[in-house]
Amino acid sequence: MNILIYGAGVQGQFLAHALNKRDNNITILARGKTYENLQERGVRLKHFLQKKNSIDHFNYISELSETDQYDIIFVTMKYSDFYSVVPVLAKNITQNIIFVGNNTNPQKLRKTVLEQSNTDKNISFGFLMTGGNRDKTKTTVLRFNAGELKVSHLEGQIPFHNILDEIFKDLSIKLTYEANFEDWLMSHAAMIIPLNTGIMLKNQYKGRQKQLIKKIINSYNELHLLLEHSNYKIIPRAQATLFKKFKFIAYPLLKIILNIKIMNQVQGSMSEVDSLYEDVKLLNKHSVSTTRQLDQIVKEVKETL
Ligand SMILES: NC(=O)c1ccc[n+]([C@@H]2O[C@H](COP(=O)([O-])OP(=O)(O)OC[C@H]3O[C@@H](n4cnc5c(N)ncnc54)[C@H](OP(=O)(O)O)[C@@H]3O)[C@@H](O)[C@H]2O)c1
Repeated sequence: MNILIYGAGVQGQFLAHALNKRDNNITILARGKTYENLQERGVRLKHFLQKKNSIDHFNYISELSETDQYDIIFVTMKYSDFYSVVPVLAKNITQNIIFVGNNTNPQKLRKTVLEQSNTDKNISFGFLMTGGNRDKTKTTVLRFNAGELKVSHLEGQIPFHNILDEIFKDLSIKLTYEANFEDWLMSHAAMIIPLNTGIMLKNQYKGRQKQLIKKIINSYNELHLLLEHSNYKIIPRAQATLFKKFKFIAYPLLKIILNIKIMNQVQGSMSEVDSLYEDVKLLNKHSVSTTRQLDQIVKEVKETL
């Protein structure tokens, strides 16, 4: 299969590595310094928990022309960057596209691509269950198993599921077709917005971490209520129950998460968190639920930038 991975960050590089087999012809679209680095040294991954390194070589391009055709394009970048590549993707003749990553309005993203495109397109969505960060010399990947890509067409079956099955055949990375993916994506955004905001505020709350954790827990409860009032299901259900009914467990858990070194391996970005937050805030217009505590901690982070 002819595969393009559009976006050469942590997730794009790991996906390329995980899909590397003889029958998959993989091209990575990278830009600027990342393009130069990859051409020079290939995809160098440090598998943090597995304590091993890997080097893979692929085809690299820095631009996608209208007539470059692939069986599938995986777009792997921050939610705040997806719209920057929509015009290029819309013009390109490839039919099957999966946007991989956080996403609080997949329907709007799909509509925007289809409106700008002159050719038929299937736009689906996905999420890679791995984390990590990168520097000039390597990309560090945090995964507890061989990795998993969750995928969904939102409504009905993915029209190109046969191609996906072929791409993932005989590989260790797991491919999971998700039902209720919009609920899942929203719940995941509700999980990371307060957490990433809290992590970014950690230094300011030195000596007052209890206060910060209380604010994070309150933010979770506000967000979960807002989502439920907006007819989203919280998936997994335990996510909502934990912060509402089991604060005595949530508190030490958050304390560990805020302080363990492993969290430094998971790269968050305020521009992405802010885009997700802005989408979620739109739900406020149609709901009586407020997110006063969350609004305050997001404001505190923005004041530090
Ligand atoms: N990393 C994690 O720990 C983690 C964990 C779970 C989920 N996720 C989610 O997975 C998604 C992808 O995250 P990531 O960590 O892979 O992001 P990332 O490391 O920032 O990678 C994004 C890549 O896309 C490239 N890019 C951005 N805009 C572009 C454009 N207009 N044209 C061409 N390339 C462009 C960037 O280029 P440059 O190289 O020039 O920056 C970068 O290589 C996000 O939704 C993220 O939240 C990440």
